[in-house]
Amino acid sequence: MRTFQVNGDGGPLSPVERPVPAPAAGEVLVRVRASSLNARDLLIANGRYSVAVPPGRVPLSDGAGVVEAVGDGVSRFRAGDRVASTFHPGWIHGPFEGWGELYGVQRDGWLTEYIAVSEHSVADVPEHLSFEEAATLPCAALTAWSAVSGIGPGDTVLVQGSGGVSVFALQFARAAGARVLATTSSAEKAERLRALGASDVVDYVGTPEWGARVRELTDGRGTDLVVEIGGAGTISQSITAVAHGGRISLVGNLAAGDGMDLTRFFQRGATLRTISVGSRSDFERMNRVVRGHRLRPVIDRVFPFEETPEAFCHFETGSRFGKVVISH
Ligand SMILES: NC(=O)c1ccc[n+]([C@@H]2O[C@H](COP(=O)([O-])OP(=O)(O)OC[C@H]3O[C@@H](n4cnc5c(N)ncnc54)[C@H](OP(=O)(O)O)[C@@H]3O)[C@@H](O)[C@H]2O)c1
Repeated sequence: MRTFQVNGDGGPLSPVERPVPAPAAGEVLVRVRASSLNARDLLIANGRYSVAVPPGRVPLSDGAGVVEAVGDGVSRFRAGDRVASTFHPGWIHGPFEGWGELYGVQRDGWLTEYIAVSEHSVADVPEHLSFEEAATLPCAALTAWSAVSGIGPGDTVLVQGSGGVSVFALQFARAAGARVLATTSSAEKAERLRALGASDVVDYVGTPEWGARVRELTDGRGTDLVVEIGGAGTISQSITAVAHGGRISLVGNLAAGDGMDLTRFFQRGATLRTISVGSRSDFERMNRVVRGHRLRPVIDRVFPFEETPEAFCHFETGSRFGKVVISH
């Protein structure tokens, strides 16, 4: 089977041939039909991830496909079922227990034609989605779902930028009945964010004090929730933008900066909650909502499997809107 692996030196991914694995007891063999890229995959491929990745590791946490065969004792799935990966293969339900073994880091990931995984590490996928769409769900969508949990009609939410997580956060918050404001760096992306339901979009480059602008746009109140993508480089504006007693879901750390002024944060009386993607049962709950709302992931571009290195280059450009997908 065809697979891509990292070299450990930050160079381009290498295509290699490997034998198709046999499913062990309790495992399903999945014929992977599509995968998708997340910010961490670029760090892993470039050799800049926070944890050392051995040469030869297969990257990608996110994939979707068809169960081809099952090992002894498997009861959750049978051949022909459509499934997607779960980001934390060992976190099934309950509270977060720490970052265990992850795809693309301690174990081989989904950038391959076949993968054998525990039957407990996959979930079924909504019927109305293509494999390309389903492959966008495991990391970005679930992170967004966790970040906006508890939001409902009458609430206001601020999302930052138009990357994978933020676009899903916009879609989930709109589906929950909230008003959504967004920031972005381009007029064209602003139009697309409005088309997805953002009531207002602020250019964070042209308006460096975008937190104050968000307060103006919410009649001085601020938003009930900020989905924090930029981290150290944006948290100060997020504290300005969030309502008194509001919440900041800390998702990413994409933007370099000075970090948080604790005094201002105390004065806001806001809550900061870190997000760790989500468990399999969170994923299943999210998928019920995806089904119910016939929600469709926003795909920027689909690359054929053999053009995987080009997909990574495109992901790096920053011109994308939503998810970059590989069709296997
Ligand atoms: N904690 C978790 O569980 C978790 C899970 C998934 C991802 N993450 C992290 O969350 C972050 C986003 O992930 P992603 O997959 O959505 O990444 P992505 O698709 O690469 O997002 C890139 C987008 O972020 C926006 N952006 C960059 N700098 C910004 C800034 N200063 N202000 C506002 N927007 C900015 C840009 O939007 P425009 O082009 O519109 O300007 C850019 O296109 C990453 O740091 C990732 O590692 C964390």
